[in-house]
Amino acid sequence: MSAHIIAVTNQKGGVGKTTTTINLAQALALRGASVLVVDTDPQGNTTQGFGVPLEAICKSVSDLILNRELPADAATYAGDGISLIPATHRLAEVEREMVGMTNSELRLARTLKAVRGKYSVILLDVPPTFGPLMNSALNAADSLIIPVDSGFYAMNGIKDMLAEIEEIKVGTNPDLRILGILLTLADQTRMAGDVFDELVASFGDKVFATKIRRNVKLKEAPALGKTIFHHAPTSTGAQDYLALADEIRTQLELPQNEVAKFEQPQIAPAIPRVAGGVQ
Ligand SMILES: Nc1ncnc2c1ncn2[C@@H]1O[C@H](COP(=O)(O)OP(=O)(O)OP(=O)(O)O)[C@@H](O)[C@H]1O
Ligand SMILES: [Mg+2]
Repeated sequence: MSAHIIAVTNQKGGVGKTTTTINLAQALALRGASVLVVDTDPQGNTTQGFGVPLEAICKSVSDLILNRELPADAATYAGDGISLIPATHRLAEVEREMVGMTNSELRLARTLKAVRGKYSVILLDVPPTFGPLMNSALNAADSLIIPVDSGFYAMNGIKDMLAEIEEIKVGTNPDLRILGILLTLADQTRMAGDVFDELVASFGDKVFATKIRRNVKLKEAPALGKTIFHHAPTSTGAQDYLALADEIRTQLELPQNEVAKFEQPQIAPAIPRVAGGVQ
């Protein structure tokens, strides 16, 4: 096993990066993949979305970037097929410190490559700003999912993001590729349809066939510290993220032995349960 490392990124805020990280991770785990989630955003939204209270965290992605010790498998929380390296607000301070440190933007890549044998997929949630943390994630990733919301400015945001990806490719991560552009917050409006058509016209088969529909259950779940599969397993949100997971499994040719461990999502209690690695 050698994990495919995927960063979920777009410098535009509020486009569904965190929602996608959490629920795609759980959908892949439901399909039998062993998934490591890394929260690289100081907002800690992915961490909280999995129900981990920020004040309870001893070891986080900050320790990893500062080269402090983490448990052998790097993750400090685990449950329901997912391991998590959490983020806390301290990460914002660490990002400022990274500016003066040598090769700080390659440290995440180094650590994740060292643990990739333990997982089939590693998913990174990325903050909505160009800076050392986003660069760290883009350097660590094999490929990218770019969520794009269905609004008027969607295309502008994606052009800036593509320019940033080109810079990383020319510099430190030449093999970085786009796994797919994902339409999120899709509704029945004409604009959502136009944005999708425009994406397909510009990026062809780089656009995921799956669209993530706007669904209030997806909005409610993180406040409860639950994935959509724990909160509303029959919702359109759950269906869409399972469809996305299947599209990605086909693309990545995830091994045949990783087929559905549990076809029905009955995976209470919600993660995380504290794993042995927490200190
Ligand atoms: N498909 C959806 N249906 C309904 N609400 C959604 C959907 N996707 C995301 N949301 C909601 O939209 C808001 C922004 O989503 P999210 O936090 O995932 O975006 P983000 O790109 O990670 O934001 P940021 O840039 O701040 O990190 C959240 O309140 C989330 O619950
Ligand atoms: Mg986010």
